[in-house]
Amino acid sequence: MTIAHNGDDLAEKLEILAGQYGNRFLLEAAPDNEIPEHGMAATDAMRLIDEELVLDGIPMRNLATFVTTWMEPEAQRIITENLHRNFIDHAEYPQTAEIEQRCIRMIARLFHAPGETTGARCQGSSEAIMLGALSLKWKWRERREAAGKDTTRPNLVFGGDVHVVWEKFCRYFDVEPRIIPLQPDKYTIGPEDVEPFVDENTIGVAAVVGTTFTGHADDVRGINDLLVRLRDERGLDVPLHVDGASGGFVWPFLYPDSEWDFRLEQVRSINVSGHKFGLVYPGIGWLIFRERSDLAEDLVFYENYLGKTDATFTLNFSTGSAMVLAQYYNLVRFGMAGYRYIMETMQANARALAQKIADIGEFELIGHQSDEQLPLVAFQLTDGHEYDEFDVASQLAAERGWMVPAYTLPPNADHVTIMRALVKLTLGQSLASTLANDIAEACETLKQKGGLHERDRRRVKTNPGI
Ligand SMILES: Cc1ncc(COP(=O)(O)O)c(C=O)c1O
Repeated sequence: MTIAHNGDDLAEKLEILAGQYGNRFLLEAAPDNEIPEHGMAATDAMRLIDEELVLDGIPMRNLATFVTTWMEPEAQRIITENLHRNFIDHAEYPQTAEIEQRCIRMIARLFHAPGETTGARCQGSSEAIMLGALSLKWKWRERREAAGKDTTRPNLVFGGDVHVVWEKFCRYFDVEPRIIPLQPDKYTIGPEDVEPFVDENTIGVAAVVGTTFTGHADDVRGINDLLVRLRDERGLDVPLHVDGASGGFVWPFLYPDSEWDFRLEQVRSINVSGHKFGLVYPGIGWLIFRERSDLAEDLVFYENYLGKTDATFTLNFSTGSAMVLAQYYNLVRFGMAGYRYIMETMQANARALAQKIADIGEFELIGHQSDEQLPLVAFQLTDGHEYDEFDVASQLAAERGWMVPAYTLPPNADHVTIMRALVKLTLGQSLASTLANDIAEACETLKQKGGLHERDRRRVKTNPGI
C-alpha cells in the first residue's frame, strides 16, 4: 500500500488503519481535562492507561516503600475474583464479614490479647490510628466527665519519630499534639522522654514499633512501666497505643520474646498495616483493642441498612473485600512458620546488604546488628565527602532506576541525613549484591564528577516514603 503525501489524507488513512491495527492514542493526546464526549474501544482505553504508567517507577525497584509489591498468583486470583464484593454489605456477604472477624481474632492472638477482644478492618494504618486515637479521646472524656472534670483540653503524647498521621489526627480532631523531640544521637523515645509531657489531660501515649525513619522501636516496655507507675502513684490512668504499622507483623516472628504488645498491661490498642509486612497489596490495615471495653461504645454506629442491623466502626463506608480476603489467604497460607521464614529471609538479606554497604567504605550504618529493627538498611555517608546522601540517591536512580530515599530526621536530629533501603521478598541475595555494587558505582561517579547540579537535586525524593 502506498501512503499519500498530502498531510490530511495521511491523517485520515492512519485514523482508519488505527481501527484495524493500532491504538487511537498513538495519534491523539490523552483526555486530561474533560470527560470525552465519545468513548473509545476497551482495548484503546486499556492501552492508553498502560502506556501512561510506563512513566511511573517500577514498584519492585521502589526500596522506599514498606508496602507490598508482590503477591502469589493464587492470592492475585482471589483479589481479582472479588473486586466486585462491597465489604460493607455484611448482610449480603456474611461470610466475608466472618473472614474479617477471623483475621481480627488471629491478629489479636498474635499480639497476645488476654481474652475476648474487638477490632476493625481499615484502609491502612492511618485509618486505624484515627479510629484508635478517637477511642482514646472518647474514653478520656468519659473518665473526666464521670469525675466532674474539665474536658476541653485533651492532649496526646508521642515522639518525633512517629508517622505524620499522628499529627494529622491531632489537627483533624482537635487534640493538642505533645511531640517529644528526638535527640541528636537517639532516634526513638523512652520513659524518661515521655514522663515530663504526661498530665491529667493526656488521652494516651503513642509508641512506635518499627519507625518509618530508621526501623527501630520505641522503648514500649519502659513506657508501659512508667504509665503503670503514674497510675499507681498519681492516679493517672493513661493508655498506651502501639503503632505497629510495620513492626506488628515483624516483631512477633523475629523477636518473639520482646514484649511490646498486649503482654504489657497499659497497651490498650495496636494498629498494623496488612499491606506492609502482612504482605498484602495496598489498602488493608487493622486496629485491635486489648478488650472490648477499650473501644468507646459511642463510636459504634448501629444502623438498619438493607434489612439487617449492623454495627460499624469506620471512617469509610463502601470499600472492597478483596484485601480482607487476601489477608486471610496469607494468614492461612503462610501460617506462623511461613511468616517466620519470610521475615527471617528478609532479615538475613538486610544484614548481608548492610555488610556490603559498610564494606564500600563510604558509609556508616544507623544502629547495630543486635538492634531490634525492621528488615531494612539505614545508612549515612561518613564525614569528608564532596557530595551528600541526596546526590547518592539521585545518582543511583539515574544509573539503575533504584528508588532509595534520602531524607533528614525530625527535630532535634534534623542535622542528620540518612538513606534507607527496604529489603522485602523481592530483593533477594543477588539483587541485594547488585544494589550494593550500584551504590559503590554511584559514589565513584560522584567522586569524579562532583555533586549534582541544583536542578537534579530538586528531583530527588526527600521524604522517607511509606
Ligand atoms: C509507623 C507508621 N505509622 C503509620 C503509617 C501509616 O500507614 P498506612 O500507610 O498503612 O496508612 C506508616 C506508614 O509508613 C508508618 O510507617
